[in-house]
Amino acid sequence: MKGLRCISLVMGIVCCACSKKSNTEVNPSVHAYPIASPSYFGDYKIPADNPTTVEGATLGRMLFYEPMLSGNNTMTCASCHVQANGFTDTNRFSTGIDGIKGTRNSMAISNVLWQNKFFWDGRASSLEIQALGPIENPIELHQPLSAAVAKLQATNNYPGLFKMAFGSETITADHIAKAIAQFERTLISSNSKYDQYLRGEAVLTESEARGRALFFTHPSPENNLRGGNCGDCHTGDLAGNGAFHNNGLDAVFQDLGLALHTNNVYDEGKFKTPSLRNVGYTAPYMHDGRFNTLKQVLDHYNEHVKTSLTLDPLMSATNTVGAKSLELTEAEKQDIIDFLGTLNDESFVTNSKFSNPFK
Ligand code: HEC
Ligand code: HEC
Repeated sequence: MKGLRCISLVMGIVCCACSKKSNTEVNPSVHAYPIASPSYFGDYKIPADNPTTVEGATLGRMLFYEPMLSGNNTMTCASCHVQANGFTDTNRFSTGIDGIKGTRNSMAISNVLWQNKFFWDGRASSLEIQALGPIENPIELHQPLSAAVAKLQATNNYPGLFKMAFGSETITADHIAKAIAQFERTLISSNSKYDQYLRGEAVLTESEARGRALFFTHPSPENNLRGGNCGDCHTGDLAGNGAFHNNGLDAVFQDLGLALHTNNVYDEGKFKTPSLRNVGYTAPYMHDGRFNTLKQVLDHYNEHVKTSLTLDPLMSATNTVGAKSLELTEAEKQDIIDFLGTLNDESFVTNSKFSNPFK
């Protein structure tokens, strides 16, 4: 249990190094949250100064659904990160409290324990840093952090809940961020049909099995090897490692993506590779929500890739010697779409542990 080890480590430091400190970062009486993840997801890291605890994650869940975090008490994180949609929303661009639309599609939140760069352009390097962004963002919850803190401090219940999680009734933005991050780390999706298949509990249909092979194969027409090379970027059993690529959506970029944050021209048009888990619930697709269906996504990869300076070399993979596009057949595209369907995890989008605790 990595969570437990982490906690005892932190408590060890807290106990021997600062036993006289009354306002310790981690309340020694907290309970480690039992993080359950399949071994094939690989190792993950939890920051030493924010172990995942039952008390912290429970508080974080409340804050995720707390309208007081918004300037006019009408919106929550969950307004744009809806559980039924894999914690994204169905709008092309989400609208904040002042009715202003952003320019990016909301992102799904699941299995974030295995990611270390957040937002489409990767500008947040931890969930703790990420969580405070939307509270102050004028096109999202639009409220100074000090105002959010004051509102929560004035309630009957929150000071006690912060004390249980962090050892102090004095609410801080730091503790708000930490609690929300803890809740997000509990959002693990690992019971799709694909997971069941990996565990030997389910059998893929013929089309799903063909789709899986195409998804993970890099085509090599010289060797009669057909493939969609999706798995070259949407890697491993998590179906994405969050690396940044230009997948050929545009010849001229409306949104510079990663370059906005690195100021490097070779990063223009590169975006975070999203995990494809729960992709059946997360439409519309891409950073600007330009595609409504997986058929449109497959048509893009197969025949509409646009050339630019930063286009990923993997995007020139082809199934026909000398051809300029991927050259999958319509039946093969459908097989890949059928395989993507196995990544939907119904138990995740309906799990009552992740739903609105105020309902
Ligand atoms: C008005 C809609 C809206 C609200 C409200 C909102 N988000 Fe988001 N969220 C987005 C959008 C849009 C993005 C992508 C933004 C970008 O890349 O610039 C995003 C990205 C994220 C990500 C990054 C996921 C990844 O894989 O990189 C996380 C985590 C997240 N939001 C959590 C939250 C939390 C926590 C709150 C509440 C404090 C919140 N969001 C409130 C729309 C919203
Ligand atoms: C060169 C790397 C690369 C390859 C190869 C690749 N993808 Fe992607 N994929 C990405 C990136 C990067 C994004 C996000 C792009 C953006 O929004 O601008 C993405 C986005 C997607 C999305 C949208 C997900 C969402 O939540 O919006 C789907 C679906 C998808 N890819 C499926 C596939 C399939 C199917 C294949 C194989 C036919 C494939 N990808 C091949 C890098 C890649």
